[in-house]
Amino acid sequence: MGNLRAVPVEQLTSDEAEKELAALAREIKYHDDRYYGEDNPLITDAEYDALRIRNHDIEKKFPLLVRPDSPSKRVGYAENTGFKKVTHSKPMLSLDNAFNEEDVEEFLARAKRFLALSDDLNIDVFAEPKIDGLACSLVYEEGKFTRAATRGDGNIGEDITENVRTLREIPHELFTASPPEFIEIRGEIYMTHADFNSLNQKREAEGQSLFANPRNAAAGSIRQLDPKVTAERSLKFFVYGYATYPSFLKTYQESLELLKSWGFPITTLTALCKNKRDIIHYFNDLEAKRSNLPFDIDGAVYKINRLDWQERLGFVARAPRFAIAHKFPPEQGQTTLRNIIIQVGRTGVLTPVAILDPINIGGVVVSRATLHNQDEINRKDIRIGDRVLIQRAGDVIPQIVKVLNLHSHEREKPFVFPKKCPVCDSHVVQHEGEVAYKCTGGLICSAQASLRLRHFVSKDAFDIEGLGAKHVDAFFQEGLIKTPVDIFTFQERDHKSITPLRKREGWGDKSAQKLFDAINKRRKISLNRFIYALGVPQVGESTAKVLAKNYGSFKNFRDSMLKAVDFGSSSYQELIAIEGVGPSIAEDILIFFKEPHNLTILNKLHGDAHHAAQILIEDFVSSNSMASKISEKTIVFTGTLTKFTRAEAKSKAESLGAKVASSVSAKTDFVVVGADAGSKAKAAQELGVTVLNEDEWLNLIKTD
Ligand code: IVH
Repeated sequence: MGNLRAVPVEQLTSDEAEKELAALAREIKYHDDRYYGEDNPLITDAEYDALRIRNHDIEKKFPLLVRPDSPSKRVGYAENTGFKKVTHSKPMLSLDNAFNEEDVEEFLARAKRFLALSDDLNIDVFAEPKIDGLACSLVYEEGKFTRAATRGDGNIGEDITENVRTLREIPHELFTASPPEFIEIRGEIYMTHADFNSLNQKREAEGQSLFANPRNAAAGSIRQLDPKVTAERSLKFFVYGYATYPSFLKTYQESLELLKSWGFPITTLTALCKNKRDIIHYFNDLEAKRSNLPFDIDGAVYKINRLDWQERLGFVARAPRFAIAHKFPPEQGQTTLRNIIIQVGRTGVLTPVAILDPINIGGVVVSRATLHNQDEINRKDIRIGDRVLIQRAGDVIPQIVKVLNLHSHEREKPFVFPKKCPVCDSHVVQHEGEVAYKCTGGLICSAQASLRLRHFVSKDAFDIEGLGAKHVDAFFQEGLIKTPVDIFTFQERDHKSITPLRKREGWGDKSAQKLFDAINKRRKISLNRFIYALGVPQVGESTAKVLAKNYGSFKNFRDSMLKAVDFGSSSYQELIAIEGVGPSIAEDILIFFKEPHNLTILNKLHGDAHHAAQILIEDFVSSNSMASKISEKTIVFTGTLTKFTRAEAKSKAESLGAKVASSVSAKTDFVVVGADAGSKAKAAQELGVTVLNEDEWLNLIKTD
């Protein structure tokens, strides 16, 4: 199939085209699941678009071969939720984007070419804001509101009728004596800044999680199983079209006027543009108004006004040819840099953070920006007291673009990075060839210690269920857990405490016992997980595994590292000779072993002459199982496993020399499915990957 794709569409035979369309349908569906279902795309947008374009081109040449499950019939993604499914009378589509004036020009030129109009002819373009909310379709039958649906995958959405009925801006009945028999209207449901802020304030007071932005809040509010909740959320509606336009309408503008007469709210932030100049003028004007608008917009939408032209222009792939979204560039604002503070990360890296005079950038108050490192500060010559240009793009952390008063004579002195850690007062060092400064305090640095504890108990390390970041921080603050050892002595100390955990706020007999059980369950750990849990900089899961494989047992690993501290030793030579280690990683490992606090902790955990062992570190099960049927194979576990935990299955597979992946691809060798396995099992079947149930898996790895 990969080969087929190299063949130009014109040269494909019908058989080849059919095969390739089937493959493309499978592949695009697979990537949709990654993107929408798991928020974890495996390919770039450009690669994804290339697949869709290829699909479109083949379908165009072989219209009879268009499959019922063709990706061209789908936009977005149908989620599996408690809502009834609704089939749209016509697909709900997306819009192509223009990022600059040339893109807009190209949009106009393409439309004119398509309609065979002369290039210098001016055509009317209706411009309106692009509201940031969620798409919704409304059906009116004999003038009565009968159904509302989300976009879903473009063809099939979710029935949100009862929730939408609570929106004040949506008429329950069209204000007309002669309503159409059936009409499907489309628009965007959104939330204003004011409603968003008061909703979040209320949620904060009630201890509920906060919505990240008005769009999420609108989506969350509409997807409520209880319409009463939706009713309290004051959602608004912005109408932007029909599924099918009544035939007596000639222009898009007229169609909006009709909607207005029927009782829909219509925005005045629109313009009928005659040419590119008008369009750009509209765009700039809208951008200038943007931060004062009571709701979020992320650009403008231009639509060819004549409906007969819209009809002729039609659609390409998932978007109409008659409309385009012109996106705003990242939002910027100017403010004063008040201070530079230093944050300390888990591995001791010091990150400078700019403290700003709070500034509202596009509806979001920004009071901090990342400065990355000293180099960045030097390069941009950023000094306390400067006027700075701040940029915010999407949900990313705001950044300082540049200093605005670079040439002023009254600036502060350049910022000097501290020589001591602001948290623990230990020395700060900059390693050769690295830009970052690091605190040398290790575990005595409380900033690092609590972040390291979080890492220690995290999923791929000790995986202690119920001991999340919030609890780790709270226990650390209260002095209950200061080092990894304290985790494993917690229950014993708690027994004797006059304020045991179960009596503390937010805890009870059951929850305290559950936590202790979760800790006790993890007293046995594989060597590679243990090494990873130590949180040595640059030692991630795979390096930890390489080390575990090489040294076999904890004792051997520790003793070798203690010897390797001497650069002249054969142990050092052995360490740097390990494939995937090298001098830089070795240095980080040895810094860890040179630190007496760390050695004490290792001894207390593993046990020595003075301390009872708290945990059992299992030797690395070496892969002399090269003979093993799964050695070097890639395996994916999915669904609810009943015979073993996912962590257990993963570690077993790895100890037999297999790789465990989280998503299915053409490289996967086996997919092991538990109960209710979802999209991954399906993807496996579609990609022709071997699917095993739990028993078949156990049978496969049985060592006889
Ligand atoms: S027209 C066939 N107009 O943006 C064209 N869409 O990125 C359908 N949107 O799915 C869309 N404001 O949910 C149109 N003035 C506007 C819009 C708008 C927001 C949303 C809509 C669409 C998405 C595409």
